[in-house]
Amino acid sequence: PFEVVLAKSGLTLQVPVGVSCLKVLRDAGTAVDWSCSEGVCGTCETEVLEGEPDHRDAVLTPSERASNETMMPCVSRARSARIVLNL
Ligand code: FES
Repeated sequence: PFEVVLAKSGLTLQVPVGVSCLKVLRDAGTAVDWSCSEGVCGTCETEVLEGEPDHRDAVLTPSERASNETMMPCVSRARSARIVLNL
């Protein structure tokens, strides 16, 4: 599990094991565009302000992954206990 903080709204959400970050965001009423929900289309790409994503998508290049500037919340998670998204 990890905590996701939404920088614009100030909301803090818990992402349980087995539930996607995208689902938690959507259930909280956050507007995130998405399409495939499988980490292949790139539609849900979201800017990361703090924390280290655990990238599980097939979209980002190795250097984009290493930069930790964006993530695909439909499949990717967090290595850090807390991640801050520009949402
Ligand atoms: Fe397609 Fe996330 S919805 S990569």
